[in-house]
Amino acid sequence: MKPQNNIVEYTLEASEFNWEIKPGKTIAAWGFNNQVPGPLLKAKQGDTLVVKVVNNLPEPTLIHWHGIRLPATMDGTGEVQQPIQPGEHFEYRFEVPDAGTFWYHSHQNETVQMERGMYGGIVVAADNDPIVDNDRLFMIDDMKLTNENAFKKHGAIGRWIERHDGREGSTCLLNGKEAAILHMNAGQVERWRFVNAASARYFLLSLGGKPFRMIATDGGLLEKARTETELLITPGERFDIVVGPFEEGTIINIETLPYNRTTFLKAKKQQYATIHVTAEKPSKAFIPEQLNWIESLAPQDAIANRQVKMSVAPSLKRGIDFLVNDEMHCNDEPVMVGDLQVWEVSNTSMMDHPFHLHGFFFQVLEENGKVPAYKAWKDTYNLKPKSTIKIAWMPDNRPGRWMYHCHILEHHAAGMMAHFEVV
Ligand code: C2O
Ligand code: CU
Repeated sequence: MKPQNNIVEYTLEASEFNWEIKPGKTIAAWGFNNQVPGPLLKAKQGDTLVVKVVNNLPEPTLIHWHGIRLPATMDGTGEVQQPIQPGEHFEYRFEVPDAGTFWYHSHQNETVQMERGMYGGIVVAADNDPIVDNDRLFMIDDMKLTNENAFKKHGAIGRWIERHDGREGSTCLLNGKEAAILHMNAGQVERWRFVNAASARYFLLSLGGKPFRMIATDGGLLEKARTETELLITPGERFDIVVGPFEEGTIINIETLPYNRTTFLKAKKQQYATIHVTAEKPSKAFIPEQLNWIESLAPQDAIANRQVKMSVAPSLKRGIDFLVNDEMHCNDEPVMVGDLQVWEVSNTSMMDHPFHLHGFFFQVLEENGKVPAYKAWKDTYNLKPKSTIKIAWMPDNRPGRWMYHCHILEHHAAGMMAHFEVV
């Protein structure tokens, strides 16, 4: 039976406003409906989302619906849409065919607009979602601020480093708050959905060493839960975990461990929030053994029909160039609807790059010749230095202009992206 198709309407008003990150620390944020992150959009699988975006910013904007398989014209990039000018609005309308954790963010002047807070979460519920006592979305971000809490601007060397590393700041935010203290009840089991909305920070999630169960990623539920104590969430990626039950009085630190991605500035362990476990409550949670069934898209030895190379090169003019197939803002070959795509995506540089494909999910068939430890639908996948992944994806019948790019925003802006046509 086809799920009932409801229409879910939202209005997102983009503007500049004062946002209190913690008592006494207020920034001039840009965001939606005067909050960072913007409102959480909720729908059920199969619903139609209608989102009116009103632009009251001093500059044009565009909104991208990261991870949603929508028509090309609704993808919110400069490839398919005129930017929404100050004082104007645009109505996005699309069905949400998949359940899971998604997000929306500015896709115009991203290094400024996203840094200032132009993002929010989307949760699409499914009938087969595991039963939990509480379901929360945690958007991870960091900001680089001056002592006066203004967004920091750099001189030549600082700009060069930021272009190379991407922008990382020491103000660490979980749902727009620094050093937040949250509560959960003892005896309960919760689903925590993590979205890495940072410009460049690699978030190596740790709950102070306590184990948790990872149950979903970009494209929804995994087949089986995987018990972990650490989880790398790169910019753009999502992972859902299940935590608990804990005993009353337990304190859980949500922190990132240092991840060395060959940057100039050394990675540090950083604390994002603290969860206090308070009075015990009964649990109705049920996490089934088999969460989902993920059909394999292609055999692992399928022959690649496209090579994508992500690289960096020194440049006299710009210091360093970020390239796809040796080009800035590469214009890649068209893809035919219904032709299974097997791509070999390689990173020849000494840095990490999170590869993001718009509008479609892919499966990783191989990473450096090895089959991944589990099956998953992804739209963002980290390429370690000098590594190659083989991915498969199906261009279903949604013709138009699409793109893929590195989700470190400064690398994307510097040219590490490609657009192509699905025909
Ligand atoms: Cu979240 Cu073009 O990206
Ligand atoms: Cu990159």
